[in-house]
Amino acid sequence: LPAAVLLIAIAWFCGSLPFGYLMGKWHGIDIRKHGSGNIGATNVLRVLGKKAGIPVFALDMLKGLLPVLLVSWSSWLNGAEANTVGLVEVLCAAAAVLGHSFTFWLGFKGGKGVATSAGALIGLAPWALVVALVVWLVIFYTTRYVALASVVSAISLPVAMAVIMTIDERWNLVLLGLGIVLGVLVVVRHRSNLQRLLQGKENRFEKKNKKEK
Ligand code: G3P
Repeated sequence: LPAAVLLIAIAWFCGSLPFGYLMGKWHGIDIRKHGSGNIGATNVLRVLGKKAGIPVFALDMLKGLLPVLLVSWSSWLNGAEANTVGLVEVLCAAAAVLGHSFTFWLGFKGGKGVATSAGALIGLAPWALVVALVVWLVIFYTTRYVALASVVSAISLPVAMAVIMTIDERWNLVLLGLGIVLGVLVVVRHRSNLQRLLQGKENRFEKKNKKEK
């Protein structure tokens, strides 16, 4: 048990590292005062461009993936059965995403949890993640709204998990619970985006057919 608590604390700490905010600082701005005000990769890309946005996406993803891998690796060392997703991995995934969304470095106001959830799910539910990614791409390329793509994709995640578990005839309710929690968290964190979408004020990523500026 103490090892499990330590791993969860590490996951939470990794998640809390606000890479988007730090990237903004590196460029001399407070990213929370620009664009959507979010510290996520989307807003960093919107405000500072791809060279800043892509590394933030990668780092935010890694802080979800690495803690989960650390658990798998340590339970493997301890002789646990491979291919089973256990409670500690699931709690680490949730801790990393919660650490990101309510980071103590920034007064508990963090990001929306999309990249970090995706990173954690690479190790835990890769096929459900693929479905959610396809949903994300379809919604994004048809509407050009990142937030709408993220919200619909987040809803599709637990649905995809349930379908895959039914096909496999292998139910893992702890993992499904994680899918529901992450899905709800991502939707709730997009409240302001949903309001803007309803008002027709959400920022749209236009196709790059014209030269910028
Ligand atoms: O992952 C966050 C994205 O879905 C929305 O970001 O900056 O448009 O609120 P943003």
